Amino acid sequence: MRLEAARQEILAEHVQLRDLVSALDTAALSARQEGRIDLLRAAARALAAAFLRHIEHEESLLSPALANAMQVRALLAEHEAQRAAAERLLELSRTGPPGDLAHVSRHFCAALLDDMAYEEEHLLRARPEVGTRA
Ligand SMILES: [Fe+2]
Ligand SMILES: [Fe+2]
Repeated sequence: MRLEAARQEILAEHVQLRDLVSALDTAALSARQEGRIDLLRAAARALAAAFLRHIEHEESLLSPALANAMQVRALLAEHEAQRAAAERLLELSRTGPPGDLAHVSRHFCAALLDDMAYEEEHLLRARPEVGTRA
């Protein structure tokens, strides 16, 4: 796949993940105000599952396209920690105490928003000089 097409796919997934973060924020509010823990569980599950699919996809598309081995290693190391955090969120979404789920969800969302901003700034910027060599 061409680098630009891969970049666009990843950016489109980031848009979807941001929507799921917003949905989880809304669900956390419903859980607090109306006791709708079911909505919080469903939204946390949806975000964690989508994120796990995203990092798999990102690794398959981006690793070969990244400019140097340092970036690839940094991406993979970051993904390992993120995968563990997403698995934990998934587990809590099933049977975890609502307070813990809300707390972990908040942290997960904040870290994910930071991570996507970092990737977009440092790894996913258009690099015409790379594209012309491909
Ligand atoms: Fe990533
Ligand atoms: Fe990403």
